[in-house]
Amino acid sequence: MSPFIHRRIMELAKIDGTYELFDIKPERLRDEVPLLMRELDGFNCTIPHKEKLAEILNAPFPVNTVFRGKGFNTDCAGFRTCGIDFSGMEVVILGAGGTARMMQEECQRAGAKSVTMCTRKMIMECGDLSPLSGGDLSPCVGTTFINTAASRLGKAAINRRTPDILLNATPLGMWPCAWKMPPVTSLLRPGVDVFDAVYNPFPTRLVLNARKHGARATGGLRMLVRQAIEAQKIWNPEKSFDTAVLESKILPLVSRELLRHSPVHFALTGFMGAGKSSLAKEIAGRLGIACVDVDAEIEARTGRDIARIFRRDGEAAFRKIESETVADILRRGTSSVVATGGGLPVSDENQKLIRETNTFVLPLDVPFETLWQRAGVDTETRPLLKNERQARALHDERRPVYQAFCDFSFDATQPLSQLAAGVIARLTHTGD
Ligand code: S3P
Repeated sequence: MSPFIHRRIMELAKIDGTYELFDIKPERLRDEVPLLMRELDGFNCTIPHKEKLAEILNAPFPVNTVFRGKGFNTDCAGFRTCGIDFSGMEVVILGAGGTARMMQEECQRAGAKSVTMCTRKMIMECGDLSPLSGGDLSPCVGTTFINTAASRLGKAAINRRTPDILLNATPLGMWPCAWKMPPVTSLLRPGVDVFDAVYNPFPTRLVLNARKHGARATGGLRMLVRQAIEAQKIWNPEKSFDTAVLESKILPLVSRELLRHSPVHFALTGFMGAGKSSLAKEIAGRLGIACVDVDAEIEARTGRDIARIFRRDGEAAFRKIESETVADILRRGTSSVVATGGGLPVSDENQKLIRETNTFVLPLDVPFETLWQRAGVDTETRPLLKNERQARALHDERRPVYQAFCDFSFDATQPLSQLAAGVIARLTHTGD
């Protein structure tokens, strides 16, 4: 995304310049640096060059920005946009690479009480990280590295407490594996601050799930944009920059660009009459991506309406067509908001498909009484609804499934435009 971001900054700040990508092999870096310094006004570098460049330029920190022969780090300024107050806090950092180390230094500089770093190997091997936090780790000022062996020991010895702050510096959840998230669900709760350095997709599944459990969560997109602005400030010392204006203009452009070239889907689930189709249209319009209605697609494909398919071929036949249709939709190479039929997430096969296709699941929660009163629930067009008692029983049976298979659930009793604004805020905002 860097060329895209830097071009937008240069347009907005009226800087005459270009920003291009160079692919340099690690073993060539030392030889290339003098050439880069001669031919370019300045440059950034990314993983895995940051550490090596620090060595070449004699900088005591990983270098991501170079100007006039000097190395700088603007990732740190980017990271501070997470707005978390680390002072006196117990922090768990997932990952132990360059980004994790930068975070660790920043936490300590800001007065964190303890910093626990979990290596990626340990995270992958451990089903649940909750036993690692708190207890005898909390009193140690400084950094505790947790590796697999230590975690086994720790599991037995550590009493269970939740860290105040959780920072993800691993690539878990990064597109094209957007469905993944670090195994930290049990650490997500109100009062906990979460920052995920992953910015694609935006938001990540970790960020959405943290918000679902009441934690404050921020994704890495603002960090990415801010580090770019800070680099431009270094390269253009004579210019003045309005950081807040640049960020507010560039963030929505970058999130749209991400949706354009790294497809993800937002599946609206929920009971019949919850308002999935109209909300899908509304939020797809606001995000600038396609809107797909599974039932409408089924009707277009088969040339028959849903009620007729049920009447003529039965529910099992409908479910088969439904699964095939949704598989085609979710495998399309374009981002979309998908209004699903109310029965879709009930099947294990469909859940598996949803997991494999970078799809976020957003149930619309509406009490049965409201659903039943809505004109939308009519027993003519909805063959599964026979009478109020039966409909209520089906609703009560499905509601726990919607809530369990969910990245963020919405109270859908609000008016449409208010609800759409709330969904967009959840999906795109960078703070809280
Ligand atoms: C169904 C819901 C309907 C439709 C079909 C089955 C269900 O879609 O797919 O009648 O099992 O809940 P809506 O939820 O859009 O009404």
